[in-house]
Amino acid sequence: MANLWSGRFSGQPDPVAFQFGSSFRFDRRLFEDDVTGSLAWVEGLTGAGVFNAADAQNVSAALKEILERGRREPAFVDGPDEDVHAFVERQLVERVGDLGKRLHTGRSRNEQVSLDLRLYLRRQIPDLQKQLAAVVSALARKAESAGTAVMPSYTHLRRAMPVLVAHFFLAHVAALRRDYDRLAWASQEADAMPLGSGAVAGTNYAVDTAMLASRLGFSRVVANSIDASSDRDFVAAFLHACAMLMVHFSRLSEDLIIFCDEEHGFFQLSDASSTGSSMMPQKKNPDPLELIRGKTGRLIGHLTGWMATMKGLPSGYNKDLQEDKESVFDAEDNVAGALATLVGVIDGLEIFPNTTAAAASGLLLATDVADFLVGKGMPFREAHEVVGGMARHLLAEKRDFGALTPAEWRQYHPLFDESVTSVVTAEASVRARKTPQSTQPQAVAAALADVTAWLRRIGAP
Ligand code: ARG
Repeated sequence: MANLWSGRFSGQPDPVAFQFGSSFRFDRRLFEDDVTGSLAWVEGLTGAGVFNAADAQNVSAALKEILERGRREPAFVDGPDEDVHAFVERQLVERVGDLGKRLHTGRSRNEQVSLDLRLYLRRQIPDLQKQLAAVVSALARKAESAGTAVMPSYTHLRRAMPVLVAHFFLAHVAALRRDYDRLAWASQEADAMPLGSGAVAGTNYAVDTAMLASRLGFSRVVANSIDASSDRDFVAAFLHACAMLMVHFSRLSEDLIIFCDEEHGFFQLSDASSTGSSMMPQKKNPDPLELIRGKTGRLIGHLTGWMATMKGLPSGYNKDLQEDKESVFDAEDNVAGALATLVGVIDGLEIFPNTTAAAASGLLLATDVADFLVGKGMPFREAHEVVGGMARHLLAEKRDFGALTPAEWRQYHPLFDESVTSVVTAEASVRARKTPQSTQPQAVAAALADVTAWLRRIGAP
């Protein structure tokens, strides 16, 4: 079969090398966008006087028929073609003959593939954002259902201070909202229309690039044809958004794996989101969460792999750029899988407020005890020293603040009066916080209301 560039060659391509260089098996995913781009190009060529109205009508009708067929019958998008662009052109020529051969006038696959991938990402990113909003929504529901339940927060994975369980879930929401914006940013990076760049230097036909941009839903045209032929910053932006999102999912997974274990027992995964062991009958394993954590490595790999591919490229298109698509598609598939899985995991999560409260009592109230002394006029550093000494004794005696009698409190320091016992509870501790980002219950309620308003604003169900 003749390919798109056979004219210059007297010999046939080595089938092995041709197969190695072919991208159709994965870029067939760009089929729809390739036809969309070509439909616009017909208009560009018509405006430039290459096609008359009747030609344009014929080519467009054939392209639309190809598009419909491919949508109806995915197996149609197949064949020995080098890539999706060659496939569409072959189909077109089969339908309209020579006219089809004129569609590539003034156009290069270099800009075509960039256009297709930009169109594809701008089509798919909103879907990922919608799924991400569903995860945020599930976390917000869980936060709401946690009510006033308290749990320990951790630093260095050692108990730090009491927090509302809702505050913990909203912490993950805060990170995921940044990911939502990062996806939007990747879409903005892709928002530049490359047609008119030709292979690298521009095109000799007076196509109206502004018209093409607005027809294809772009807000701008690329600034420079050389840059356009090798610019894949939008791919890096997308892969970064995906990798970052997976890093956040991985950390959420790790938290849940830990908090659902036998040692903590704060939460429990639903049966639906767990797996058993083929040997140990008692086991209930958090496989979906582990897999999300595991896949994060692969997503980071896509980002770093792609950056490495780009770093050595001379200006203008190079075939290395073909590597972008498999990374993008694999990243997209795995992020989508993780998103869908997490909604079920979070919805099915059971909270055990008695267990979380028990873990939030005791020595992690030490900062509140020190703040009590500060309230009585003692410098914080001194209070830290006094309470540190108390913690040392109590640990040795295997007791905690709650067990101290008023006389014992006074022995540690005369500034401790009766009122200290009302300060030294997890509930009092969270109520004592004063800043909007804190775990203070009203602040948490406001944060939850803010998430709900945000979900409504972005049109999440
Ligand atoms: N399959 C190629 C890619 O994905 C399309 C562009 C080919 N251009 C070229 N000059 N070989 O990048």
